[in-house]
Amino acid sequence: MSIYDDLRAKASSMKNFNLRQAFEQDADRFNRFHVEFEDFLLDYSKNLIDDETMSLLRKWAEERHLKDAIKQMFSGEKFNSTEGRAVLHTALRNRSGNPIMVDDKDVMPDVLGVLDKMHNFSDAVRSGKWVGATGKKITDIVNIGIGGSDLGPCMAANALTAYRDRNIRLHFVSNVDGTDIAENLKQCDPETTLFIVSSKTFTTQETMTNANTARAWLVDTLEEDAVSKHFVAVSTNTEEVQKFGINPDNMFVFWNWVGGRYSMWSAIGLSLMIGIGYDNFIKMLEGAHAMDKHFQNADFTENLPVILGLIGAWYAGYMGAESYAVLPYDQYLNRLPAYLQQLDMESNGKGVDRDGKPVTYSTGPILFGEPGTNGQHSFYQLIHQGSHLIPVDFIAPIHSLNETDKHHDILLANVVAQGEALMRGKNREELLAEGVEERLIPFKTFTGNRPSNTLLIDKITPYTFGMLIAMYEHKIFVQGVLWNINSFDQFGVELGKQLAKKVLPELLDKKQSLKHDNSTNALIEKIRKNRH
Ligand code: F6P
Repeated sequence: MSIYDDLRAKASSMKNFNLRQAFEQDADRFNRFHVEFEDFLLDYSKNLIDDETMSLLRKWAEERHLKDAIKQMFSGEKFNSTEGRAVLHTALRNRSGNPIMVDDKDVMPDVLGVLDKMHNFSDAVRSGKWVGATGKKITDIVNIGIGGSDLGPCMAANALTAYRDRNIRLHFVSNVDGTDIAENLKQCDPETTLFIVSSKTFTTQETMTNANTARAWLVDTLEEDAVSKHFVAVSTNTEEVQKFGINPDNMFVFWNWVGGRYSMWSAIGLSLMIGIGYDNFIKMLEGAHAMDKHFQNADFTENLPVILGLIGAWYAGYMGAESYAVLPYDQYLNRLPAYLQQLDMESNGKGVDRDGKPVTYSTGPILFGEPGTNGQHSFYQLIHQGSHLIPVDFIAPIHSLNETDKHHDILLANVVAQGEALMRGKNREELLAEGVEERLIPFKTFTGNRPSNTLLIDKITPYTFGMLIAMYEHKIFVQGVLWNINSFDQFGVELGKQLAKKVLPELLDKKQSLKHDNSTNALIEKIRKNRH
């Protein structure tokens, strides 16, 4: 019997497993299925698991050589096999002073050098030492980027709003829809606006289109040479940055061993650093580094990313769950689900294994979420009573950064209650005891037995926020190893991009003959007839 047979057998033997009963019969269940690490408490006891499930899952991890894989990633081996690249976002937050080698070269001097450059620049912008072309202090930062060059700093800037300098407004422009840049520029004055063009490749259509529009807007009011005072770039591609007209002195580099969706720790975080200041940015890196060490060193029985990764893979592979919800009970984390959608779904949304063979099992789940309690008044209905199994991660800080009257106690009461409600449900007897009419019993019944993790964080600080994001990065890594897929490429985004490049000239030129399917042809014809 392989481990997969064992896990399948275990899943079928757990068909009648009942969480409510499991808690009633086992006063120690929480004790056995929770972990505390620094300011985090992860309660994973409300999952469809028992001791045997967890030990089988850990055995699966061992058979997949997870420990070796972790070592390989941290030591700079070319873990991204299809692109022949190391995967070293952890080097960006390596606060140990130890070297990290890629192709026999220690990358740490370069990493620390860029951090220094970001430090000087962000201090200069924040203090007003860096001024615009007409001598005025910068009041608005516009980060232009998309995907990993937008979601990370944008989500982090929201999450750490309480730590930001309120005299500097941060804007994030990502969509090629002109509305995005137009609406942001309406709020800005060219004399006091600094654009950060963030793009690993510096060729991304959306980003370059927005960057050119921003440049034209600036030059329309100020002179051409104002560009050097109002544009900086974050990229791995010096040549393209120079072609755009940005002085390499105003360029902040990172390296091809930093995946786009793992890049918020790099110079891609420049807008964030300007917002929260260097010291807070470093605290965020330190928190992530603490999680990195925990991931490398903690036993799998106590390892937060490993536990979360194993349980998620259990639901996806053996319990039939196709989706998964992340529900932060913290308004500052309102962009976390959107950020995790890229991190998780671009990483593990793969249909072939590392050898290029089609997988015969489920890989990364569909991720969605909204902050609580808003989600409760929206899609929670489906999580409580719908026909799908949707495992949930609740995330809540114990202390609010805005302790306003009873708000935070109400918020916390809700998150705790939701986990309990999903787990316990409400049965016929309970409804009858409440005097519910017989005909309404089926509608008011909650089956319960619906799983959740609850992560309590003492307080959202730059440090704990760094821990949180690193925890999810590593969880996704664990699952990639279990599923034997490469979590670090993203070829799935290419085809649509290529076709869009072909369609664009066809939209613009009515004379071009169309050779698509008849649906695509008809859509193009309709658009060009109505637009041009
Ligand atoms: O959407 C695909 C992708 O390559 C992401 O992985 C990346 O984060 C994003 O595009 C932006 O790419 P770039 O930073 O090169 O502009």
